[in-house]
Amino acid sequence: MERILVIGANGQIGSELVETLSAQHGAENVIAADIGPRSSFGVKRYEPIDVLDANVVSHIIDTYHVTQVYQLAALLSVTGEQAPLKAWDLNMNGLLNILEIARKRGMGGKPLRVFWPSSIAAFGPNTPRDNTPQMTVMDPTTIYGISKLAGERLCEYYFLKFGVDVRSIRYPGIISYKSPPGGGTTDYAIAIFHSALKGETYRCYLGPESGLPMIYMPDAIRATIELMEAPAEKVKVRSSYNVGGISFTPRELAQKIAEQVPGFKIAYEPDARQAIADSWPQSLDDSQATADWGWQAKIGIKELVQDMLANIKLPQPLSKAA
Ligand SMILES: NC(=O)c1ccc[n+]([C@@H]2O[C@H](COP(=O)([O-])OP(=O)(O)OC[C@H]3O[C@@H](n4cnc5c(N)ncnc54)[C@H](O)[C@@H]3O)[C@@H](O)[C@H]2O)c1
Repeated sequence: MERILVIGANGQIGSELVETLSAQHGAENVIAADIGPRSSFGVKRYEPIDVLDANVVSHIIDTYHVTQVYQLAALLSVTGEQAPLKAWDLNMNGLLNILEIARKRGMGGKPLRVFWPSSIAAFGPNTPRDNTPQMTVMDPTTIYGISKLAGERLCEYYFLKFGVDVRSIRYPGIISYKSPPGGGTTDYAIAIFHSALKGETYRCYLGPESGLPMIYMPDAIRATIELMEAPAEKVKVRSSYNVGGISFTPRELAQKIAEQVPGFKIAYEPDARQAIADSWPQSLDDSQATADWGWQAKIGIKELVQDMLANIKLPQPLSKAA
């Protein structure tokens, strides 16, 4: 029986991961943890923890006899640029704390499987941008990307040197309707749907041809769990796997939305986030993930647009009565 700790459980990915893992393993076997107050719907066990406090994290892992940790707490690309030292501290030391706990538990015969996400932000301006290979030039220019690349190297180091069973995916931009995005460069691909449903023109902070790899949340969650459930000998990459979903530009996404929401309009007002997007890949070669553990994306842009428009719930205006 698995006992699973999800750190960063209130976030965009964590909240949906907790829901899926609870359905698969039973809510009593999933411990949601976050620095913020409990917010994940349907969570049975919740622990308010700071991932930077290694003693507290270790205590929780011992108390619940945890066998798997998903370490998702991080500052993302846009929020990271606003507080680079904080981003470096959280993104590196949060991961190191978990890897160290896993190393020590492994020595005591209590192995801990770890998931930690990298990002397309780990690539940089000299990376080939189309069909970006698994192994290639990586020269990130944001503090977020630098922390993700360093994190990838740490994961592989802890696997090779100490046998820690750590697994990772370089997530593309993740699109979802349930929880708000956490301050990344790909957030436009969620905000655009909210404008469309409100009947507003969407003012896009990226230019029309700014292609980026994206993935719809159900595919991202499935990839994560499939990787964590793969037999250890099939997980040949211990830094981080390229996992592609779909790639599109703001213009292409706006066109698809306009097919469903007649009259929808987009205006382009690129800001500082454009430079970040320009340094990232436009599409990913994820054939290694396919070969090693059978990864296949299932959700294309058409299904994604239909599902987002059908499921986003806009905040209701306050009633004037009372
Ligand atoms: N969302 C994406 O498009 C995307 C793409 C690539 C990689 N990722 C990676 O996936 C992970 C999760 O991303 P997300 O979009 O869900 O982020 P998010 O910002 O929505 O959620 C992060 C959560 O971590 C929590 N947290 C912050 N500091 C903490 C601390 N010290 N201790 C415990 N919890 C803390 C926050 O309260 C928040 O709930 C991150 O590592 C991110 O880099 C996300």
